[in-house]
Amino acid sequence: MKETTLGIIKPDAVEKKLIGKIVSKIENCSLTITDIKMVYLSTNTLDELYKEHIGKTFLPGLIEFMSSGPVVLLLLEGEDAVKNLRSICGDTNPEKALPGTIRGDFGEGLPKNAIHASDSQDSAKREIHLLFPEHQII
Ligand code: CMP
Repeated sequence: MKETTLGIIKPDAVEKKLIGKIVSKIENCSLTITDIKMVYLSTNTLDELYKEHIGKTFLPGLIEFMSSGPVVLLLLEGEDAVKNLRSICGDTNPEKALPGTIRGDFGEGLPKNAIHASDSQDSAKREIHLLFPEHQII
């Protein structure tokens, strides 16, 4: 089924000039970029993005890292886009991610794992609503 999903190239990967390599891997896996923008995410926006992690000990460090530099937001479309993107990203923990995946090749560790990918269609909808408000159908 054709779906839309969200990817975020994180500050570690932007700083290491990996945007092109990551975008290449994504485009080679039959996903189409329908919008792209580089932004700084505020702590308010990150609180909302990561609200499912409230109470987890890593949340403050994750928010500090994600607000430490620019990120690249990717709006992506394709067959089974949510699953497809997550599979290209690899395991959340770069130490467990397979070679060839984005996190396996470019992740440093946690939370510096190079990319975020929505974990379900519901999450994608919520995250796109938050980060690409200009794409809402009114
Ligand atoms: P992401 O796909 O953005 O979703 C939540 C993020 O939390 C995850 O990628 C990691 O960057 C971060 N994360 C998850 N588990 C841990 C952990 N144990 N320690 C630090 N950061 C983590």
